[in-house]
Amino acid sequence: MHLNQWMACLTAGLALASNATFAVNTPHEQLQVPQCLAAKITTSYAVLAENKQFKIIDVLSSDLDTLTLLADQVKCGHYVNVSHKLLGTLAARQQSAQNILKKDQVKSLKSEHSEVYEIKHQDEVNTALKEISSDNIWGTLTHLTSYHNRSATKDTGVEAAEWLKKTFEAMAVENGRADTNTFFVKTGWYKQPSLVTVIGKDIKAPALVIGAHMDTLDGRMPGAGDDGSGSSSVMEMARVLLASKTTFKRPIYIIWYAAEERGLVGSQYVVEHFIKHSIPVKAAIQFDMTGYRVDPNDPTMWVFTDYTHKGLSNYVAKLIDTYIHVPVDYSHCGYGCSDHASWTEEGIPAAFPCESNFEDHNPYIHSSSDTMDLLSLEHMTNFSKLALAFAIELASE
Ligand code: BES
Ligand code: ZN
Repeated sequence: MHLNQWMACLTAGLALASNATFAVNTPHEQLQVPQCLAAKITTSYAVLAENKQFKIIDVLSSDLDTLTLLADQVKCGHYVNVSHKLLGTLAARQQSAQNILKKDQVKSLKSEHSEVYEIKHQDEVNTALKEISSDNIWGTLTHLTSYHNRSATKDTGVEAAEWLKKTFEAMAVENGRADTNTFFVKTGWYKQPSLVTVIGKDIKAPALVIGAHMDTLDGRMPGAGDDGSGSSSVMEMARVLLASKTTFKRPIYIIWYAAEERGLVGSQYVVEHFIKHSIPVKAAIQFDMTGYRVDPNDPTMWVFTDYTHKGLSNYVAKLIDTYIHVPVDYSHCGYGCSDHASWTEEGIPAAFPCESNFEDHNPYIHSSSDTMDLLSLEHMTNFSKLALAFAIELASE
């Protein structure tokens, strides 16, 4: 158990809010919640800090699933898990909570640094794109949806992480690669670790990060769309990179995050790992939901504009146009809705291409009906191709 959680348990009883009567010894977490969502919460919480836009609250870990489903209903934003930033005594945590809210305001005033991204490697990319196999994506997704769930709190979530690791490692061996590495990054007190893999482990230039999240909520959750689809698109890109003879100028990190559904917890620990080990990152891209089409015949790919880097997002749109030859459009979540936000938070350029616009997103996510039959294999294949184009173009410069 995370020390912070026990501290929270012991002190939560003192933590004021009238509706908070917490039993000692139960795990707690701290969430940053938009005020409009906080107003609808009926489970117990204590307020650590607040401003006009947000509350930072202390809740029972066991209420997180309920809060996610509530956020889906209320549709005014979502929570971010800030537990790992709040340590020490109640007073210290209240102070840190206030600092988080203050820092948010300063950040939104800062303008992003500009960088030029160019398309320069069309021959290499087009050759590699031919190797992407839809069948492999379907095969990976069939396996991932066969777990009862891939929850960060369940053994099946850990098994899924181990399976992804074994699968990547087997492909590396099959292709005789000596330049790869794989490791788990712990997710605080959660059972499920994030899986970090790297191609070009000894290259020192700023890295590329290509990610998806492996986890689902608890209960019967096939998580085909969210995010079995992105996890499978990314695995097929990894296979093609491992099989290719091209050598790159940058390390390519391919990451399956844990506990995204718990408030981006896994990616926060991964980003912390990169910072702690001084691994510089040039750009990060997130593949969360790559298979659902509102109209099965409309192949439009969407690029999300919030909690992302403008220049990099426009570049991703250009990659779609150049290599996938389908329409591109823009949308936004209105809150940090996936792991790209954890990179953005640390000032690292991040992009988030997605299957549909936010308004028309797959209505079956976070339910037992998030199944493969609702997804387009062509769409998932196109996102796998986009990941590959992103990797080759940016790692060759
Ligand atoms: N895949 C979703 C994010 C998403 C939803 C993107 C709809 C595009 C359209 C992700 O797994 C998720 O559920 N995120 C949470 C927020 C997170 C901070 C817990 C959400 O959006 O409810
Ligand atoms: Zn989700």
